[in-house]
Amino acid sequence: MKSIILLGAPGAGKGTNAKRICASYNIPHISTGDMFREAIKNKTPLGELANSYISKGALVPDDVTIGLVKERLSKDDCKDGYLLDGFPRTIAQAEALENIGKELNREVKYVINFVVPENILVERITGRRVCSKCGAPYHIKNMPPKVEGKCDLCGGDLIQRKDDNEETLRTRLSEYHQNTMPLVKFYSKVNKLHEVDGTKPLEELMKDINAILG
Ligand code: AP5
Ligand code: MG
Repeated sequence: MKSIILLGAPGAGKGTNAKRICASYNIPHISTGDMFREAIKNKTPLGELANSYISKGALVPDDVTIGLVKERLSKDDCKDGYLLDGFPRTIAQAEALENIGKELNREVKYVINFVVPENILVERITGRRVCSKCGAPYHIKNMPPKVEGKCDLCGGDLIQRKDDNEETLRTRLSEYHQNTMPLVKFYSKVNKLHEVDGTKPLEELMKDINAILG
């Protein structure tokens, strides 16, 4: 069972690599950030709540996020594997996920931590553009689209995420250091942690990831 968590700071490459891994192993990509952004776009009550945290760079409360992931992991398409991108982000979320995994018989097997120095994270986040239709990520310098401002995959308009500015990024990074970094130790203790150098070119990274997942 390919049940995978991608760990890493904002801009470490979780979303970019998640799309490639999920396509190659044919498993669903579960990004809590994308789920919240979809709810914000559809102006649902969940979206309104999430927006009040995301716009500041703060974490959405654990109970809300855990409930959302539990519901998603219960779906039939997760029975042979899944990839979590951006969840868990706190020890409480990781503990809840252990219980959910046991209850559903869908426990996490692999945790891949993307290691990227902070100066590169800032450059990546401020230069990132995402497709307003399908969410595919680009970078104005590192990964430009073939046609400026348009998604290679679906032709949608490329936009900048509202939380991709330096001020909000500072809060996101401090949340990461305080709440998410402890997960590295948490998963290393149970021998599930694998680290990759997230600064490598994507093709090389995919080779490292394939070697981990087998
Ligand atoms: P979320 O959407 O998860 O954002 P994040 O963790 O801040 O991570 P990012 O999406 O910014 O970065 P990424 O690692 O996906 O990088 P990417 O691949 O795009 O969460 C947003 C918010 O939602 C949170 O702040 C929080 O409020 C809330 N939230 C979500 N989950 C939550 C949870 N579990 N609990 C509580 N709250 C939660 O890459 C970045 C850029 O770099 C791109 O431009 C890309 O083109 C480029 N790039 C990537 N890899 C490479 C490479 N190898 N070489 C060159 N360029 C590269
Ligand atoms: Mg992402």
